[in-house]
Amino acid sequence: MKYPDTIQPDFSARDALPGVDPLQVSRWSPRAFVKTPINEADLARLFEAARWAPSCFNAQPWQFYVSTDKTFNDYLHLLVEGNQAWAGDASVLGFVVVKKTFAHNGKPNAYAEYDAGAAWMAMTLQARQMGLYTHGMAGIKHDEVASYLTLDDDHKVVCGFAIGVATTPDTLPDDIAAKEKPSPRKPLDEVWRR
Ligand SMILES: Cc1cc2nc3c(=O)[nH]c(=O)nc-3n(C[C@H](O)[C@H](O)[C@H](O)COP(=O)(O)O)c2cc1C
Repeated sequence: MKYPDTIQPDFSARDALPGVDPLQVSRWSPRAFVKTPINEADLARLFEAARWAPSCFNAQPWQFYVSTDKTFNDYLHLLVEGNQAWAGDASVLGFVVVKKTFAHNGKPNAYAEYDAGAAWMAMTLQARQMGLYTHGMAGIKHDEVASYLTLDDDHKVVCGFAIGVATTPDTLPDDIAAKEKPSPRKPLDEVWRR
């Protein structure tokens, strides 16, 4: 299903080269969400997209733990306060976890977090196609998340995330509302080195 995408963000800071897929540039990380249920089939679509990300040795070391109606408040309280201040109206909250070693030989997987980032981006672009937005969060209580999810030593909590339907920022505290717009990027020649 296509979720309502009614906001009109100011994209003036985003000067993408012509020909780049608009999906790339229209993805940004809002903090103002309007509480909207995401049905089970659509949640499955989001994490199905992540499933197709490439990974070292095809190990697919990522796992996405996602809140339910019952666990949403627990997940919210596992965020640092600065993120709790805006994430409460997201539809779901989640944590990206990786398996730290390869299943096929037990050796450390130095690329697990890289691969999880690719899976996260696949999920994020799928969300955008469905009218949803995501917001990644390093600001989580990592140790408490690991213990809440009862992770063993072979698994690591990498990041948190919110998924939801964006709205205008008038419900946000002023300092957070001021940041609520698509951000610019470094010039291309700083990242494309020759
Ligand atoms: C790994 C990661 C961690 C992040 N942590 C936070 C966070 O804790 N709180 C927050 O408000 N935004 C967080 N962000 C959002 C970034 O600040 C944002 O992606 C960046 O400024 C680029 O803006 P854009 O996503 O709107 O294009 C995080 C993003 C990523 C990818």
